[in-house]
Amino acid sequence: MTPILDVSGLTIRFGGLVALSNVSFSIQPGEIVGLIGPNGAGKTTLFSSLVGLNRLNAGEIRFEGQKVDGLRPYRISRLGMTKTFQNTALFPAMTLFENVVTAAAVRMPLREARAVARACLEKVGMEDAGDTDVDDLTFPQKALGEVARALATAPKILLLDEVMAALTPTEMDAVIATLRDLRSREGITLVIVEHHMRAIMQVSERILVLNFGQLIASGTPAEVSKNPDVITAYLGQSDASHS
Ligand SMILES: Nc1ncnc2c1ncn2[C@@H]1O[C@H](COP(=O)(O)OP(=O)(O)OP(=O)(O)O)[C@@H](O)[C@H]1O
Ligand SMILES: [Mg+2]
Repeated sequence: MTPILDVSGLTIRFGGLVALSNVSFSIQPGEIVGLIGPNGAGKTTLFSSLVGLNRLNAGEIRFEGQKVDGLRPYRISRLGMTKTFQNTALFPAMTLFENVVTAAAVRMPLREARAVARACLEKVGMEDAGDTDVDDLTFPQKALGEVARALATAPKILLLDEVMAALTPTEMDAVIATLRDLRSREGITLVIVEHHMRAIMQVSERILVLNFGQLIASGTPAEVSKNPDVITAYLGQSDASHS
């Protein structure tokens, strides 16, 4: 099967800093893949690079077999690859429904966008929260709202950057159940960055591990959690939220 995403030799430098070094991996359609690594490992940089926000210093990115590196972000989005933004970012002072409509309206007339927005809210079980101002949403509602807004771009693959960061373990379980449902019902491929180990190990079928810009491991949750390089990478940093 043609991978939905195929990355080879991806290298990104910011001045003297090598944020990603010769990173290669591929993802099959319908997979749920976790992307982990200590702070500053390059996870967000990888997502940004995939959706066309960084100039590559080397390497190639193929989406459904088509080379997409060098394409503008809106063209990559239209092909079907969308990312959420870390530490965000529903538009404030709007209702949730308005947020999702805004994302859909980029590619269709407003009337249609409203119908798509309603459908996207339903897909994550948030149809009753549409009229709520985003500032009044609970953390789990915000997380699902962000997913709904991303769905409005009709992604085939969705890159989720720490959407569950503010949640309690129980809230995370509920969001994870919704994400799994979404993959089963819509067939959307998910790549999930999350620091909370139990959550990411639970939701992912496969895990990619970045450390200092290098891909140091790839395998099932059981495999990577036994991997000595991965254990060393995590022991080498002290933030308790990562364990
Ligand atoms: N636009 C930029 N310009 C310069 N350096 C950057 C830029 N974006 C990221 N970096 C650096 O690249 C490295 C990787 O950062 P990145 O944000 O991708 O890490 P991360 O794995 O997402 O970390 P976190 O878990 O804290 O979100 C870091 O050293 C960061 O300071
Ligand atoms: Mg990040």
